[in-house]
Amino acid sequence: MSKALGSLAIIADKLVKNYVSYERRGFLRKRKKIIKALKGVSFNVKWGEVFGLLGPNGVGKTTTVKILATLLLPDSGKVFIDGVEAFKNLSYVREKIDIMLTVEKGFFLNSLDVKTSYILEHCTGWKENCLRKE
Ligand SMILES: Nc1ncnc2c1ncn2[C@@H]1O[C@H](COP(=O)(O)OP(=O)(O)OP(=O)(O)O)[C@@H](O)[C@H]1O
Ligand SMILES: [Mg+2]
Repeated sequence: MSKALGSLAIIADKLVKNYVSYERRGFLRKRKKIIKALKGVSFNVKWGEVFGLLGPNGVGKTTTVKILATLLLPDSGKVFIDGVEAFKNLSYVREKIDIMLTVEKGFFLNSLDVKTSYILEHCTGWKENCLRKE
């Protein structure tokens, strides 16, 4: 189906996401910490638009992308892909989504499989050998 340029491919509507983490307080004590990753993020992406999500480290870019790709549930808010509410129509919207998440913090570089290394090198210029020497 052809899409009219200007119509909406993605709607992010008031996305909220809190993570729960635990801070160590001494040998046995831990304190629960709520991290407010998204505090009501809204934007639209039109068909045919190249949309960049920019911001300082930790501001919630990856969290937003994971929610848009239906890999992570928001605490509240809605996502529409091609006019369809994403979390109520998972199989329909997942057929429309292609996503490649690149190397994240905590990723074990030495255990990347051959296919992942190949894709990273050819899409981003990333060289596994260069990183291993450092
Ligand atoms: N699984 C998780 N558990 C707890 N906190 C998390 C988790 N994932 C992300 N966070 C926290 O949520 C906030 C947003 O993180 P996110 O990774 O979405 O930011 P980002 O904009 O992609 O950052 P970067 O530019 O460093 O990639 C940060 O404070 C981060 O530490
Ligand atoms: Mg990120």
